[in-house]
Amino acid sequence: MPNIKAQRPEIIQGELEVLAFSRHDDLEEAIEVLLSGKYVLILDFYSTGLLLLNELKAYLRWEEKQKFQEERSKRRNFRELSHRIILEVSHQRLRVKKAPKIGWLKILYPEQKEFALSFPDIQGLNSAWQWYEKGIQIPTLPHKIHPWYGSYFPTRFEHIILFDEYLKANQMQKENAFDLGVGSGVLSFQLQNHGFKNIQSSDQNPNAIIGMVEELKRLNISNIELLYGDLFVESAVQQDLIVFNPPWLPTKGNIENLDTAIYYHEELFPRFFEQAFDRLKPDGQLVLLFSNLLKLTHPNEKHPIEEELENGRRYIKHALLKKPVAQASKKTKRNLKRREQEIVELWSLKRST
Ligand SMILES: C[S@@+](CC[C@H](N)C(=O)[O-])C[C@H]1O[C@@H](n2cnc3c(N)ncnc32)[C@H](O)[C@@H]1O
Repeated sequence: MPNIKAQRPEIIQGELEVLAFSRHDDLEEAIEVLLSGKYVLILDFYSTGLLLLNELKAYLRWEEKQKFQEERSKRRNFRELSHRIILEVSHQRLRVKKAPKIGWLKILYPEQKEFALSFPDIQGLNSAWQWYEKGIQIPTLPHKIHPWYGSYFPTRFEHIILFDEYLKANQMQKENAFDLGVGSGVLSFQLQNHGFKNIQSSDQNPNAIIGMVEELKRLNISNIELLYGDLFVESAVQQDLIVFNPPWLPTKGNIENLDTAIYYHEELFPRFFEQAFDRLKPDGQLVLLFSNLLKLTHPNEKHPIEEELENGRRYIKHALLKKPVAQASKKTKRNLKRREQEIVELWSLKRST
């Protein structure tokens, strides 16, 4: 495995115009400074950063009412402005008082002694550290997973249960399997528990691969080979089963600034189906986990699996399992309505020739 560099929040550096800010300083002045394109450095407590962030939110809400700004530009504005609230890190710890301890600072910035990060990035690091430390118990797995910073992990489990039911109910050879887009490893661990002998798992996100190297060591697993890169990377192994839990939402825009665990570009599925065909044994099974979220949110968009079946003619449908998504408790009414109708899908395809 080559030395892979982790993705991490960008260090804020260079000649910056900065206002030093403490709890009892003027909040309005700090907002003005942010709006003028300058930075605000939090000096005293971590909670002062939260206070300023809330004030910024309230200000933008007020401004939106005045100007009827579009929802989208408002969000971009908040993102841009909030990232100008910064905190100093000294010897891998936050300088402010009453700050959470975030282990990622030491892991991701080993060479940096003094630097600054944006407050929202620090919040992201903090919550990722808590998930990583506590771990997540996944139904169907005998152990917790510990997702590495920046790698995808499931927070709803219907598709995992569906995959487990599928593996239990279907007879297949279990010599070789491929998990495309391993994330924090859930599907690979399921394959392992169901007796697959040789598993290859890929991801184009370096952090997913770095995290998985750690997980495999911790769990003492030696039959999962990790591949860093696009789709099947350099694997030409013929597989009994290929599984892909792809991103579920389409985007026409620039994919580079988006999370490719969530959004796909239209070329992803055709490339995947083409490459998978060459790597599937004649009686192998190609399993995709998907959702009707696409139809609910983009009614005019073609379903990429249905499209392949209709036009590609390389595969035939072997099975389609569905499971409704359980309702989340704390959602807005609009989201709740959508959730109520949300269904996860497991598509199993076989080669047509
Ligand atoms: C929805 S997540 C699923 C992660 C994991 N398999 C699970 O079910 O929890 C999709 C994963 O696919 C990866 N991915 C997306 N496009 C990819 C590509 N072209 N090549 C390799 N991995 C890709 C993402 O980085 C992400 O980890």
